[in-house]
Amino acid sequence: DMGGHDTYMHKEIHEQADAVDRALRGRIDDRFSTVHLGGLNLDARDARAVRRVKILGCGTSYHAGQIGAQMIEELARIPADAEPASEFRYRNPVVDPDTLYIAVSQSGETYDVLAAVQELKRKGARVLGLVNVVGSAIARETDGGIYVHAGPEVCVVSTKCFTNMVVSFGLLALHLGRTRDLSVADGKRIIEGLRKLPGQIEEILANEAQIEELAKEYAEAKSMMFIGRVRGYPVAREASLKLKEVSYIHAEAYPASELKHGPLALIEPAMPTVAIVPDDELLEKNRAALEEIKARSGRILAVAHREQEKADHTIVVPKNEDELDAILMGIPLQLFAYYTAKAMGRDIDKPRNLAKSVTVE
Ligand code: M6R
Repeated sequence: DMGGHDTYMHKEIHEQADAVDRALRGRIDDRFSTVHLGGLNLDARDARAVRRVKILGCGTSYHAGQIGAQMIEELARIPADAEPASEFRYRNPVVDPDTLYIAVSQSGETYDVLAAVQELKRKGARVLGLVNVVGSAIARETDGGIYVHAGPEVCVVSTKCFTNMVVSFGLLALHLGRTRDLSVADGKRIIEGLRKLPGQIEEILANEAQIEELAKEYAEAKSMMFIGRVRGYPVAREASLKLKEVSYIHAEAYPASELKHGPLALIEPAMPTVAIVPDDELLEKNRAALEEIKARSGRILAVAHREQEKADHTIVVPKNEDELDAILMGIPLQLFAYYTAKAMGRDIDKPRNLAKSVTVE
């Protein structure tokens, strides 16, 4: 039942405020400015013994893991990174007992992720799951974990589950941070930020008409560039994947800082750039990148916390805490991908060549 929406993608994009609310419900502990994650199976002593975090997933879940790794580094100061599960399992990885491994998956059935989990378990590693489907294979094979509570996701293209994965990583990062050196005041600040998310998601979705107009305009492009820096980079990668999957427009994502090392050669009026420009300590650096693009007559669509004068268009999103901004900045670009695909008459819920869960190698 699509409840009045024309596609599951559209419905699921619009379910995100409720989905995030569900992910937060019953987990926040105001007394100690932390969160409780029931199924984690990691006591404070275990949590403090973690020397490194390695996150594994595929596609959108891998991108959620990249944001998660940054949140864990920022809030808990534990070195963390994400890697495609498929790459990890084929390179005979060094498995280290002090590393906490986290397998991320919407379906909980993705074969490459499951195989990575099984290989890790065989080598004695501690593996947690960050999964949507309750009781799925990855949920069963991990030592504990977090259910992301996005609810059923039908569209092949992941939207609400991505958002809930990133929120769940925010909860985990806060929890790990508060077992270490994150102060009560910072814990409070992050909790306040988390609580603002559902309302801010509604604000972003209320801006749908502007995004639809922009999508119609940009749908003529043969190729698009997505750029972001640090927190914005995984957002750019996910937005680029979304556009490719549903519209079949070629898109690439680059760190804004890498433009001058090659991809700037591609910039010309027919190759628009979507730039993620948060109001954080890198704002001026990002503005400089916009200038470089403008100097080559590139068209720019910015997703930012305020109007960007170097950009041709800006989608303004509400500001949260710096560490949590990545959760919100991709949401307008889900709608952008949706409306681009719609303008092109694509089969939005079932893009060609793709399946909802990839249970083969
Ligand atoms: O079920 P999973 O989260 O493990 O699936 C991983 C990827 O196959 C999935 O995210 C894929 O990239 C989607 N089509 C993204 O929209």
